[in-house]
Amino acid sequence: MVKVGGALDEEMTRACADIRQLAGQGCSVVVVHGGGAEADRLTGELGRTTRYLTASDGRRSRYTDAAALDALTMAMLGRVKPALVGALSAAGVPAVGLSGADGGLVTARRNRPARVRVDGREQVVRDDLSGRIGAVDPRLLLTLLDGGFVPVVSPPALDPATGLLNVDADRLAARLAVALEADWLIILSNVPGLLRDPGDPASLVTELPAGQLPYYTGLAGGRMKVKLRSAGEAYLAGVARVVLADGRLPSPVLAARAGAGTAFVKGAP
Ligand SMILES: Nc1ncnc2c1ncn2[C@@H]1O[C@H](COP(=O)(O)OP(=O)(O)OP(=O)(O)O)[C@@H](O)[C@H]1O
Ligand SMILES: [Mg+2]
Repeated sequence: MVKVGGALDEEMTRACADIRQLAGQGCSVVVVHGGGAEADRLTGELGRTTRYLTASDGRRSRYTDAAALDALTMAMLGRVKPALVGALSAAGVPAVGLSGADGGLVTARRNRPARVRVDGREQVVRDDLSGRIGAVDPRLLLTLLDGGFVPVVSPPALDPATGLLNVDADRLAARLAVALEADWLIILSNVPGLLRDPGDPASLVTELPAGQLPYYTGLAGGRMKVKLRSAGEAYLAGVARVVLADGRLPSPVLAARAGAGTAFVKGAP
C-alpha cells in the first residue's frame, strides 16, 4: 500500500516508476492519495476560502461544509487522481481510479456536531461533512488486483444514509492496508519522515517503537499527528512494515523499502 501525500503536489508522480517496477515483479500494489493542497487551490480559484475548525483538544481540521466538500471532491476526483492515473499509465501501469464511495469500498459515519472554534469564534458546527471510517469492504480492490490492475483510491467515502463524506487520506490508506492484509504501508509526504524538530530535516526519527507512539504523537504537529495515529493503528493491527518516507526522492517507494524514513518497530513504552 502506497499513500501519496497531497503535500507533494506535482512531485506526487515521483512514485510511478517504482510502482511500475514493483508491479512488474508481481507485487500487488494499491495507491491511496491525498490532495489537501490542490483542494485549497481549487477553493481559491472558485473564489471561496478554506476554513478550519479547531477542536477543544487543539486539533485543526478542514471545515467541510457542502461547498467545501464539493471543491474537495472536484480536486480529488477531477485533478489529483486523473494526474496520478495518467502518470501511472504513461509509466506502463494499468491504473484504475476509484473513490471510497465505489463498490461499497469505504463506509463512513458523519462526525457529530461539535463545539469548536472557527475563525477565532467558538460555536457548535452542525454542517461539517467529515466522517470517520466505519466498515471497509476490499472486494472491489481484490477483484482489480486479481485482474492485474493497480487501483488508485481517493477520498471521499460514502455514508449510505447522507451521501459523500470527507475522510482523512492517511486513515483511508491505513484501513485499506489492514483490510487487505498488506505487507507494507508506505506513506509518502514532503518531509523525510517524522522529525524531532519540524524545522530541521536532519532530526529524522529513523525507528519508532510502537509502544512509544503516544510520546511521538505528542511531539508531532497537527497534520503529522493524524499521520502517526493512522500509521500506528495499521502497525498494531498487523501491517508488518509501516514507513513514513520522503516522496520527493527520485525513487521514493524503493528508498522507503530499503530503509529510508521513519519505520515502525516493535518496542515497549
Ligand atoms: N514533527 C514533524 N515531522 C514532520 N512533519 C511535520 C511534523 N510536524 C508537522 N509536520 C508537518 O506535516 C506535514 C505533512 O502533512 P500534510 O497533511 O501536510 O501532508 P500530506 O499528508 O502529504 O498531504 P495530504 O493530507 O493532502 O495527503 C509536513 O509538511 C510538515 O509541515
Ligand atoms: Mg495529510
